[in-house]
Amino acid sequence: MTQPADAALRPAAEGRLRQGGRALLLAVYTALRSLKLYPVENATVQKALDDLDAAARALLEIESDLEIRVAGDFIFVNATRLRLELDNYASFSHILAVLRTFEIGGVRIRSSSRREWQILLSLLLSLAERGQPDERFDELTERLGAGGVTGLEIERASHHTAAESEQAKEAAKRVYSQGVAVTKDVIASVRIGRATSVKRVKRAVQLIVDQVLNNETSVLGLTTVRDYDEYTFTHSVNVCIFSVALGKKLGFSRLQLYDLGMAALLHDVGKARVPVEILNKTTGLDEREWRIMQAHPWLGALTLFTMRTYDETPYRAILTAHEHHMKTDLTGYPRALRPRELGIFSRIVSVADGFDAATTRRSYQSTPLEPDQVLQEMWQNPKRGYDVILVKALINLIGIYPVGTCVILDTFEVAIVSAPDPEGQQLNRPLVRIAVDADGGTVPPPGTVVSLTERDEAGNYRRSIVKVTSPSRYGLTVGDYFV
Ligand SMILES: [Fe+2]
Ligand SMILES: [Fe+2]
Repeated sequence: MTQPADAALRPAAEGRLRQGGRALLLAVYTALRSLKLYPVENATVQKALDDLDAAARALLEIESDLEIRVAGDFIFVNATRLRLELDNYASFSHILAVLRTFEIGGVRIRSSSRREWQILLSLLLSLAERGQPDERFDELTERLGAGGVTGLEIERASHHTAAESEQAKEAAKRVYSQGVAVTKDVIASVRIGRATSVKRVKRAVQLIVDQVLNNETSVLGLTTVRDYDEYTFTHSVNVCIFSVALGKKLGFSRLQLYDLGMAALLHDVGKARVPVEILNKTTGLDEREWRIMQAHPWLGALTLFTMRTYDETPYRAILTAHEHHMKTDLTGYPRALRPRELGIFSRIVSVADGFDAATTRRSYQSTPLEPDQVLQEMWQNPKRGYDVILVKALINLIGIYPVGTCVILDTFEVAIVSAPDPEGQQLNRPLVRIAVDADGGTVPPPGTVVSLTERDEAGNYRRSIVKVTSPSRYGLTVGDYFV
């Protein structure tokens, strides 16, 4: 008798736990931030601590024994995994970063009191930059004990957890390089007129989609870690990742994402029919060369027609290849013969394509284009012909300084962007990891995490981005600073 009732109850309880867990993390995050900005007695801080205490109590009512645990890139409340979504990505990743700074693997909540929360959070803020992570953990434990904190108990992260997150990162890298390999193969096959295995391409795309759905942070990070010098191939994979992440944000189903990913990965396949000398030219193209280059959309469409497996023709990929440079006002190429509205896949891929192309090109441009300028231009200049709603979605997805961007700060420090502004308000003030200090000394990975929204007593920002720079100029490998 009780069995079915239990089973029916379980999902409901799990849902409440998930909802309560998210509310709790958001409250922790808000309290951390306000404590960082204002003195304890400030009304904002007091309200944040009240909210946090209320959120914890609400959760304790659902389950009396509570544990927040970190495993890889995921946060669990007891056995329930909190989904990392685009809206909470920033606050989650901030909390993850704080916990990692102290090598905290879990926080057990036996009871909730605002006094104890205040002690814990203040210590997390004040001890964050001292000593080694394992020393910090010990000091934190000691100070919590000295403060008489008994309701909140921290547990050290096991190395197992670190290994798991390492595994997730490795998996993402494998998927990425597989995407690159497959793209290379397709382009090579088209060049020599050999048939391509569509199956392999599909498999690679499915892996990318699965990664974006399960472990979005790791994959999105890879798009900006450009340690590869094979532009054409990495570009296709990046466009695929950005497109799929955008599609996910728009609520596409997994099958729709497979289709979209396929179209995105193959959007430039027509370039396989453009002579390499023209493709690789870094100086300006003359008129004839430009005309040949501009043929790549319809050359791509033609190529894809021949790429069908016996049962299906990739119509949406064909349309996307054909339309991706047309622009929403049809002033692009190829010229549209009559009024038309670009397909949603084409509009998504155009935005992903425009962004990746413009930000990558900075590697050999003498005056580098900063991602914020690129996005601003894409957003505000209608002549660029992008779907503004999708540009906005992309900005929300990656911030204007995408994760992995190397920036120089007005404090003379050099930093690597680690997450967009957690509040999502200040796109030019992301979370960064300081990699080079003001005296030019290298801060060993993972670097010190700071938020550029931090202000000093006078209300001025402590740090601001002056310009984007190349990590190699400072001997930095961006990937090292990824946690
Ligand atoms: Fe293109
Ligand atoms: Fe492209």
